[in-house]
Amino acid sequence: MTGRIFLKLIAGVFCLLLLALVTVDYFATNVAKDNYIQNLTGQLADKGRMLALSLGAEETPDAQQVRRMAQAAGGRITVIHADGKVLVDSEADAAGMENHRTRPELVQAFRGGMGSDVRQSATIGVSFLYVAVPVAGGQSAIRIAFPLAEINRQVSRIRGKILVSTALAFLPAILIAAMLARFISRRFATIMAHAGELARGNFRARLAETDSSEFGQLAQTLNETAENLQQTVAQLQHEHAELEKLERIRKDFVINVSHELRTPLASIQGYTETLIDGALADPAYNMRFLGIIRHNAERLARLTEDLLTLSRVEQKRQKFEFETHLANALIHDAFEMMRPIAEKNRLELIEERAPEDTVVCCDSEAVSQILSNLMENAIKYTPAGGRISVGALAQGAMVEFFVRDTGIGIPEEDLPRLFERFYRVDKARSRELGGTGLGLSIVKHLVAAHQGVMRVESRVPGGSTFAFTLPVNHATLGQGTLNPEFTAS
Ligand SMILES: Nc1ncnc2c1ncn2[C@@H]1O[C@H](COP(=O)(O)OP(=O)(O)O)[C@@H](O)[C@H]1O
Ligand SMILES: [Mg+2]
Repeated sequence: MTGRIFLKLIAGVFCLLLLALVTVDYFATNVAKDNYIQNLTGQLADKGRMLALSLGAEETPDAQQVRRMAQAAGGRITVIHADGKVLVDSEADAAGMENHRTRPELVQAFRGGMGSDVRQSATIGVSFLYVAVPVAGGQSAIRIAFPLAEINRQVSRIRGKILVSTALAFLPAILIAAMLARFISRRFATIMAHAGELARGNFRARLAETDSSEFGQLAQTLNETAENLQQTVAQLQHEHAELEKLERIRKDFVINVSHELRTPLASIQGYTETLIDGALADPAYNMRFLGIIRHNAERLARLTEDLLTLSRVEQKRQKFEFETHLANALIHDAFEMMRPIAEKNRLELIEERAPEDTVVCCDSEAVSQILSNLMENAIKYTPAGGRISVGALAQGAMVEFFVRDTGIGIPEEDLPRLFERFYRVDKARSRELGGTGLGLSIVKHLVAAHQGVMRVESRVPGGSTFAFTLPVNHATLGQGTLNPEFTAS
């Protein structure tokens, strides 16, 4: 393709030069010929005038003398009387020649001055340049004829020289044109190779030469196109990955929910059938089996309740009533609510009060759920004799609440996934303790709805601290955007 462009360019330039050469030849030849004839006419007229002087005033010049003159002048000489009669001719017999009165050069010469004409001789049939001047005050005229073939030979010589020198001048033009054509076709080749890369989907490819020429601008445009395509593809890939991730999370969730529901349901079904099949009448088993059935029913109820809460909060269907509350009042309510369970588990529950005037703007129901979920976890995962503290600290426009325990702690590798739905460090232990694995997920969404952030610190062994922030007033609540950490899962 680029080879063809090269050939076309070269052929185009060659045709142009050829045309120029033909034009130059045509005009230069004409100009040279005209010029030559003009000069020669002048010269022949001068010679004619000098010969006229030497002829003197004789009526009929001597034929011998005229022939010698013709030899010296290098042409044919004719002397003609004013009435057109040829008096003497250097090459023909004057007596046999027709009347020359109407010959254009003689008409002009007898009118005074000099006359000239180019035509074929009627006498000897060869083309001549005729130049005539009057002799002896216009009694007669002397005419010198110069063969046109000689003139043409001279002109051809000049023409040859012009053609050769013009052709020589065109050589560098052809060379420059070839170099230009090569340059253009090479750049075309580079750009086409690049376009091929783009067509094959390699949007990383870039053209290096982006100067201000048309090629440079084309390269620049192609680079920008590649850049745009690269970005669009990256964006689409990113969106695709996000969608895949969401789809995976959705599938996982469905699988997890089914799994979580199946175990207690299977247990209920199994024990109910055993009871119907006769165990109901057996006092050794009936109460125990009914106890198991109740336990599993409670588990199902907790699970469905947590799932409903989670879906309400996640889909932002939960209505919140944001009002100003004293931080200590919120802590105290939760403290009182959890105290019996903590005491039952032989845990020390400590209330770390914030400065008395510390307020937060929140939905008290939601905060109560956050605190109770965190405290429930702290109680569940802290062995008897441990200590659990709940409190708050003012931090500018936010107040940070915390629940700290001296429990089993959480391994560092589990921390990043802790807030995912159904994620549990020890599944069996969580189930045994009545956990659903949804508590922290609910907490994270409730905190996010308040524009708050969550933080976990934990050591194994040593204990964990779960902390979350709440805004001090409505303005902060309105300004914030959802914490991105909580929007993905
Ligand atoms: N205070 C804590 N100490 C140790 N582990 C905890 C604590 N709080 C949460 N965890 C871990 O995080 C997991 C998820 O908690 P959560 O979502 O409340 O589920 P659940 O309590 O129902 O198991 C728990 O299973 C437990 O492994
Ligand atoms: Mg929990």
